[in-house]
Amino acid sequence: MTTVTKTVIPVAGLATRFQPATKAIPKAMLPVVDAPSIEYVVAEAAAAGISDALLITGRGQGAIADHFDSAPELEQALADKGDEERLAKVQATNDLARIHVVRQGEALGLGHAVLTAADHVGEVPFAVQLGDDLIDPRDEILPAMIAAQAELGGSVIALMEVAPEQISLYGSAAVEPVQTHLPDTDVVRVSYMVEKPAPEDAPSNLAMIGRYVLGPGIFDVLRTTAPGRGNEIQLTDALQNLAASGTHPVHGVVFRGRRYDTGNPLDYLKTVVSLGADHPDLGEDFLAWLRDYVAGR
Ligand code: G1P
Repeated sequence: MTTVTKTVIPVAGLATRFQPATKAIPKAMLPVVDAPSIEYVVAEAAAAGISDALLITGRGQGAIADHFDSAPELEQALADKGDEERLAKVQATNDLARIHVVRQGEALGLGHAVLTAADHVGEVPFAVQLGDDLIDPRDEILPAMIAAQAELGGSVIALMEVAPEQISLYGSAAVEPVQTHLPDTDVVRVSYMVEKPAPEDAPSNLAMIGRYVLGPGIFDVLRTTAPGRGNEIQLTDALQNLAASGTHPVHGVVFRGRRYDTGNPLDYLKTVVSLGADHPDLGEDFLAWLRDYVAGR
């Protein structure tokens, strides 16, 4: 039985790096092969036993929640055509999770977005998934993070080694070894975190990737966390305040699997190509075409 039943998915950002593609549609609805990126994120939570997903949305983002409703007309049309395969895919999204929505109101930063989840979450540990990061379903990380939080308490972040020159795109963490009873999981104690440091100021090349299992103690800290980098209320700063408090430990699970970034157009393209090449129906034909295409360039 999982100890974590709720996930919080902040999607209210303005997606400035994607304009004008996302001027009128939410970035979370951009297709990654044949499903919008939000579907991958909610499916990842469902695979980890999390059946309650709270979307933190902003203006004009109703389509994200609509995606998880049943669509009787569409389902009937597919049934009439005898397209059982697509019908099954459409219906599968209806049952992935119970979807809830809270409005962020003002885009004051990731920490502020997470704080808007406080009433819904209550006094239990919960997951946070950032929609820009997709985790390959073959390399899941949430179950290990949930197990680490259950054993160690406090909060757990996901870490991944990146090239030193990339660290300024991420939160960065200083870590120490820690013993756990978790098999095959690389868990560390996090002693310090900083949001998007210059490479020369980074405590390590361990980047915080967009998965968290947070103790409810984060909410009180977020209420008093001042705006930080970019004049936004940063989740990283609140976690650093918790780690420094000595009463709420922060641990990290080091991820070595496949992670895809959909946060900017170039990485998004790489994500679509990678997942397209692996796609069970399209992959073989796509990869054959891609090989020819590259050979001809
Ligand atoms: C956010 C977090 C950052 C984290 C990153 C992972 O930044 O603030 O700590 O490393 O997600 O993708 P963003 O990329 O939303 O600016």
